[in-house]
Amino acid sequence: ELGNYRHFMQKEIHEQPRALADTLENVLAQDSLQANIFGVQAESILSGIESVYIIACGTSFHAAMVARYWIESIAGIPCSAEVASEYRYRDSVPNPKALIVTISQSGETADTLAALEHAKMLGHAHSLTICNVPESALIRQSELSFLTRAGPEIGVASTKAFTTQLVALFLLAITLGKLRNKVSREQELLHMQALRELPNKIQQILKLEPEVIKWAESFANKQHALFLGRGQHYPIAMEGALKLKEISYIHAEAYPAGELKHGPLALVDKEMPVIAIAPNDTLIEKLKSNLQEVRARGGELYVFADQDAHISSEPGVQVIRLPGLGGYLSPILHTIPLQLLSYHAALQKGTDVDKPRNLAKSVTVE
Ligand code: F6R
Repeated sequence: ELGNYRHFMQKEIHEQPRALADTLENVLAQDSLQANIFGVQAESILSGIESVYIIACGTSFHAAMVARYWIESIAGIPCSAEVASEYRYRDSVPNPKALIVTISQSGETADTLAALEHAKMLGHAHSLTICNVPESALIRQSELSFLTRAGPEIGVASTKAFTTQLVALFLLAITLGKLRNKVSREQELLHMQALRELPNKIQQILKLEPEVIKWAESFANKQHALFLGRGQHYPIAMEGALKLKEISYIHAEAYPAGELKHGPLALVDKEMPVIAIAPNDTLIEKLKSNLQEVRARGGELYVFADQDAHISSEPGVQVIRLPGLGGYLSPILHTIPLQLLSYHAALQKGTDVDKPRNLAKSVTVE
């Protein structure tokens, strides 16, 4: 089953162009996005929604955090994201016009299921799940659903499930935007075109693997790492840090780069590698000055920069260039090299990549 790959994680990282193309296949076969990709009643339910509440765990929660940026920016609807194990136990204010969205690879995660049940108990009527397993408990218990077509994910560390979840959430943001007249026909066509180009762009980024391997070689002896991102890439920094911890056991933390001065800068010295996600977006100049603060304290920078972000290698600053021009889909592109980095760091350390210690693929107990 592994073919030419050493581990399922590596295979699943490389399967992403196909996983995304499969997930988009039926959706892009039409000449416009149809709300019914989320279920037959989706159009009427989604038209009446006034806010969106997304609940998930782990990597799926990071997808939720990206979606919050998209749904507020593209559809103009207030959106929040919360980890399921917190939501299920706290007093929150029910809103009958909210859409409860759960995200899960397995569809069987105990906390996510319990959080959905809790939301219903509070009086939330409308739920939608984004899930990779047909017939799973979450699909059965949700009013609307979208099935990602990542195929079976065997490696414990989630990779292709995450990027397909992001694509599904992007479709949800556009659909909500269309129903509210926030997305014009012209914008819709541009979004659809960007989605069509996505699998190829990811294929190009996968070719950066040899460069990432060199970085991973210098990582294996590190005790700690800091991941920085801003805006829609902050959750991607979190995902990069989670991947590195869970399979290489290197302690990693993620911060929105603007928070550096408020504490984490104290940690930075020449022993602290700092991985930065540097897309060419409206925050790039701000990010660059955050990176200078790191350099001024001797921190070693590893920057994944878009081609046109104008960041180049110099002593203490290493740069891997991505093709860029990702727009809203840029978080998906920037995820790939971070997956490769954690995979190859783990290989260097000789850990059990597909079955990291103490972790299970599907967390069906609390
Ligand atoms: C991390 C990872 C976990 C899962 C989490 C939720 O790589 O795989 O953090 O994302 O346990 O699992 P699902 O998505 O099945 O609900």
